[in-house]
Parts: sequence; structure tokens; C-alpha cells
Amino acid sequence: MKNIYIIGIVCILCLIQGCSDITSNTAIGKTSNINKKVDSVLSLMTVKEKIGQLVQYNGSWDLTGPPSDVNSKEKFEKLRNGEIGSMLNVLTVDATREAQKAVMEHTRMKIPLIFAYDVIHGYKTMFPIPLGESASWDLEIMQKSAEISAKEAAAAGLHWTFSPMLDVSRDARWGRIMEGSGEDTYLTAQIGVAKVKGYQGDDLQSEYTIAACAKHFAGYGFGEAGRDYNTVNIGEYELHNIVLPPFKAAADAGVATFMNSFNEIDGIPSTANKMLQRGLLKGAWNWDGFMVSDWGSIQEMIAHGYAKDVKHAAELAINAGSDMDMESKAYESSLEILIEEGKVAIATIDDAVRRVLRIKFRLGLFEDPYKYCNNEREKTSIYTPENLAIARDVARKSIVLLKNENKVLPLKKQVKNIAVIGPLANDKDSPIGNWRAQGAANSAVSFLEGIENALHKKVPFEKGVDLSIGKRSFLSPMTFNTSDRSGIPAAVKLAKKSEVVLMVVGEDAFQSGEGRSQTNIGLVGLQQELIEEVYKVNQNIVLVLMNGRPLDISWHAANIPTILECWHLGSEAGNAIADVIFGDYNPSGKLPVSFPYTVGQEPLYYNQKNTGRPSNPSDVTYSHYNDAPKTALYPFGFGLSYTSFKYDNLNLSTASFSKNEAIVVTVDVTNTGEIGGEEVVQLYIRDLVGSITRPTKELKGFEKVFIDAGETKTISFTINEKTIEFYTANKLWEAESGEFNVFVGGNSVDLLEKDFNFTKI
Ligand code: NOJ
Repeated sequence: MKNIYIIGIVCILCLIQGCSDITSNTAIGKTSNINKKVDSVLSLMTVKEKIGQLVQYNGSWDLTGPPSDVNSKEKFEKLRNGEIGSMLNVLTVDATREAQKAVMEHTRMKIPLIFAYDVIHGYKTMFPIPLGESASWDLEIMQKSAEISAKEAAAAGLHWTFSPMLDVSRDARWGRIMEGSGEDTYLTAQIGVAKVKGYQGDDLQSEYTIAACAKHFAGYGFGEAGRDYNTVNIGEYELHNIVLPPFKAAADAGVATFMNSFNEIDGIPSTANKMLQRGLLKGAWNWDGFMVSDWGSIQEMIAHGYAKDVKHAAELAINAGSDMDMESKAYESSLEILIEEGKVAIATIDDAVRRVLRIKFRLGLFEDPYKYCNNEREKTSIYTPENLAIARDVARKSIVLLKNENKVLPLKKQVKNIAVIGPLANDKDSPIGNWRAQGAANSAVSFLEGIENALHKKVPFEKGVDLSIGKRSFLSPMTFNTSDRSGIPAAVKLAKKSEVVLMVVGEDAFQSGEGRSQTNIGLVGLQQELIEEVYKVNQNIVLVLMNGRPLDISWHAANIPTILECWHLGSEAGNAIADVIFGDYNPSGKLPVSFPYTVGQEPLYYNQKNTGRPSNPSDVTYSHYNDAPKTALYPFGFGLSYTSFKYDNLNLSTASFSKNEAIVVTVDVTNTGEIGGEEVVQLYIRDLVGSITRPTKELKGFEKVFIDAGETKTISFTINEKTIEFYTANKLWEAESGEFNVFVGGNSVDLLEKDFNFTKI
């Protein structure tokens, strides 16, 4: 059967344009050939068929939004009628094949469906949640994990992931901070590009790659007070300098699709934001992929108070450049009428359809709509030992050692009387994290299992308290009001007779993620009580944190000697943490986000502005808090190792440069400890005076490097005009003449410093 479709489609294309120009070696050649094919197909389509390409339906195999009000029978009817161009949450080779067949066997144009899914940190082999993985600062390994995720998803019949999330977020209260790369624009952009390369490879035609999606365009990470879906009020300069650069980088890297965001910015919902979608993305940035709306975001403009009704919402969205409607059912109900009424030009529809078809061509779906439907591959290439081995490596690279007083870690494997305590220690589910795609419930290697695997023996364990009550799933409301203290005495008893306590606490998998904002970022429930009770009898505690957001750990930082930040690390979590605990891997992670002293400091980020009153401790009237520092407890870029690194000889090749010139910055980094280790060498700059005020520090480069014990490595960075450009008062990306500081070090606070000058001539 399959061959008949292929032949059918190839014949249609040959008729339309002749067969001679089907391949070409250059990217531009390929694009122009594809554009010709797209135009040929488009010229044969009716208005109804065009609209069908702009409609995306939820298949409900997995629920990442409200259950569909359209039953499966009706959906298949729509597929057969050519009313749907894409589906999300349809999984497995058999299911995608069945839906694809409905389209290929029944519609006139036989335009293949594109299947999407939220493959956020793995399909079934789970890698660390994105915030955790970002702590590795290892672009190569992050590209690799995307590549594996793509291979697994493609093996399950999928063509497209809604990842990477490029929302810079500075607010620990926002549940979706777990889905991004933290608070920094530059780091987020670098990781975004690595992810796009990983998912899409060099060639979207390959059946091992899938289309990526840069989301959420834009500003979603800046919801007021960290509340999900909330109003965003950021200024034009903040938008351009902080929020948009990762999206520009992804567009330049050729990301196939974008998704817009639920929020409004300064009164305009993103879904109807013409300036962002048409002016910038499709205009100034010249990006030729398609924009999918976020789930229901078109009809949500009614609740925003921006659209009168669904029809009005559809008009606003399509005219602003939202090409595909995810689950609003606004385009299918209204576009035809809007065209007839002259409120939407057919050219606008054609542009949107062209964009969708272009990506379908790039994926090779017209050549073979079933190319991702290989049952054998689905059986053999998902959740393989090789993929799990890489998941373990990524996981251990993502762990951040926050405190290691008295060098408690690494533990010797011969250590006697270890106690494992805490509600997350034998939890096989929470390490899988939220946005887990097909990561099976309870499939992670738990912390306890990891420790026992490493020691080849059973280890005494007491959970002490529970973390959450009730059903755990993406859409279930969660409760943390645990009141059962009955397990605490046994935990205390165990701690009393143990040499060291490994205390595993933090957040449930579903405590962070979509719709999981919090006003309290301390340890929930009875966890703190458990820790303090144990602490009374044994202070030799290694605090192992598993969480999806920065937590308030001020008490712990002041009292507990050893703290290991372990996020939700995925399938191999326990083994990866054991690798670090016993020194089989020397920790190298650095925080991608600031950890505050208290939630009251949020939003907190390292690249703050100086303000007019930065300091005057002898007086009251300067920018500070009465009751807490204004800096972070653990700053951005911070993370310890089992060895130590010394920075020396910061040198600039010249102290001033002008247009078309560059400065080479070098620094010597010496491993002054006894074992080899990796260090993330970070470069920051400060532009002292600008046409708009500039941050006190901005990350502009980093390199993760392995240095042997006793070895010195010279690391170099190049600063040129591009490095210092920003969106200026002229509303242009440009460099301004003036004085700059340059800083280099192992975190955003402990830095060597030099100055340079730039003259724009
Ligand atoms: C809503 C989320 O905001 C988005 O990130 C996700 O991709 C879609 N739902 C689809 O599940």
C-alpha cells in the first residue's frame, strides 16, 4: 500500500513541475526548489483545503491540555475531509500511520499530516529537565541529548517537537522555569542553538531528525509575580535585549517552527502581536518557517479582553502572523467567512499555508508520508542501553555542588553506616520530572537504588515524611499539606547511629512545570521539620536536592555542611548522583539561575542594573532590603568541584579597539587540587555608559574545559563589535563607543577584572 502513495505523490509533483529539479546540493538551491514545489501545490488548492493546513488537532493519546470536546470518530472524519493539517499528542507508529492514512487515502490533495509532541527532555529515555541540563553548560552533550530525543521520537512516528523553550526567566516562583535554560539571555541562546542542531541535524529530510520549535514567542517568562499565564509588562529595551536574542539565534540556526505565547505584553496578546510575528520574525529576521499558536491561545484572546468572539480572535491572530491554530478551533470555524468578508486577504492565507507546506517538504513528508512509520525501529531504538548511558552522563554533568565544607564529599565506598533519609530518596517517579513525554511513571533509577548499585549492598533507608498527597500527573492539582509525622522518629533513630546522612528532599515532579507557580519556594510540607529533627542528632548531612526551580535554602546553607543540587535528572538520576557522591565523576555543573536568600527577592538575577542608588550602607536611602541581602545566596554561574581552580594573568591583547578590530582576552586557569576536573570559565562585560542604562554584568562567553591536577590552561575569548552590541536608543542593534569592564572567573561574582575602550569609527 505504502508504495502506491509514494508513487501517487511523486506523480502529482512530477506533473506539477517536472522531475528534474527534485534534488540540489546547496541549501539555497534546496530552498528554491522547495519553494517551487510549494507554489505548485498551493496553486491547486481550494480555500477550504488551504484552511485545513492551518488547523492542528489534539489526538488525546497524551493530555497536555484540556481533554478534547471532539471525539475520535469526528476527528477521523475531519482528517478524511482535509480539514486538519497537523496533529499533536498522537503517538506510536501505528497511531500516526492510521491518522496519516485517513488523509492520504481520502483527501484530494494528499498533503501529509505533520505530527507534533512535547518532547521536552526526552521521548522515553529521560534526560534532566531543561533547567537542570543547562547547569552542565556543556553544549555538546545538550546537542547530543536532543539528537537522541529526536531519534526516539522519530522512531515513534513523530515529526516535530515543541522544544526548545527559550523563555528567559528570572523568577523562581514561575513553575515553567524548569523548562528553560534559566535567567541568562546569552546562555539560553547558546543552548537553544545546540538544541535546534540536535533535533534537526544538518538535514530535516533524515528520518532520524525532527523539526524543532522555538517557544514561547515572547515574554512568557516574565509573568507578573511569577504567576503562570499572567500579564507581562516589560519595556521595549528589555524585550529586545533580554527576551528576544535567544529567539533570533534559533531563527538564524534554521529552527523550523515557532510557537507564540499565552501572555500579553503591554496590552497585546502575543498571538495577535503583529510587530513580533510579522515585523520582526518574518520581516526583519527573514525567517521562513511557520508559527503555531499555543494551545487555545487564539480563543483565549476573548478572555484577555482583546477579541470580541472567536471569529474576531481568528482575524487578529492570522493577520498578526499566527499560521497554525492549535486547539482553538478558530481558524476552521472562521477563516472562510473572514476571507469572504474581506477581513483576511487570501494572500495572508497563502503565506501561512506556504510556510506549513515548506516544512512538510523539508521533512521529506511529500516523498514519503510514512517515512517515520517503521515498527521495527520503534521496537528496537527507543529506551536503549546506549541512550540510557548517555542520559546518565548528561545527568551527572548537570549536578551542581553548592557546598562541601570539610570535604565530606566524595564519600569513600568503604564508608560504614550510611543512612539514606527523605521522601525523595526512594522515589522512582519524581526524577523523571514534569513534561516527561513517554517517560514511564516510576521508571527512574531512584537515589536509593543508585547508592545501592554503587555499593553493591542494601543501605538503610527511612523516608521520614511524605512529599505530596493524591494523584500525580500533568493535569492533576497537587497538595503538599502532609501532616503525618509518624515516620520522623525512625528517621532520627537511623541518623543517630549513622556516620553520614544522605538527606534527599525537594520537589515532587509535578510541583514545577505548566500551571505550577508558587509563592513559597522553601521545602514544602514536613520536610524542613524532618531535616531539623535529624540535624539535632547528626549534623553530618549531605543534602541532596531534587527540584525544578531555585529553592530558598538559606537555613541549609547556614547549617548543613554539604549540599548537592540534583534537579529532576531523568531516567538515570540515582546512578548519576551516586557517581558524584562517590567521586566516580567530579562535579562540574554551574547554576543557570540565581538561588535567593528568600522568595521576597524574586525576581532575582545577576545582570541587574546599578540603579541611581546602588550603595550607601551608612544611610538608609539606597537600593536594598531591610531584612535580606540584595544579592544571591548562590549566584548565577556558581558551582564547586572536588578540586579547586585558580584564575591568574587576565590579559587583554589591547586596551582599546575600534570597528573591525578585536581584543583577545586570555586567562590562566590552574587546577590547584589533587584530581582532574572540569571548569566553566566565564566571561562577562559591563558597558559603563550607554544610550540606555546597561546591566552591571552580562555573560558574553564561556568555555567548559578539563584541567588535570596541577595543570594550567590558558583560555582565550575574543571580544569584537558584535560582543558589545545591544538594542540602543536608536532602536538598532549596534555597538556604542565607550569604556567597558571585562570580567573572567568561575562564577558571576568571583571575577578578575580589566578595562577596555571601544571607538566606533
Ligand atoms: C501548552 C504549552 O504552553 C506549550 O508549551 C505546549 O507545547 C502545548 N501546550 C502543547 O502541549
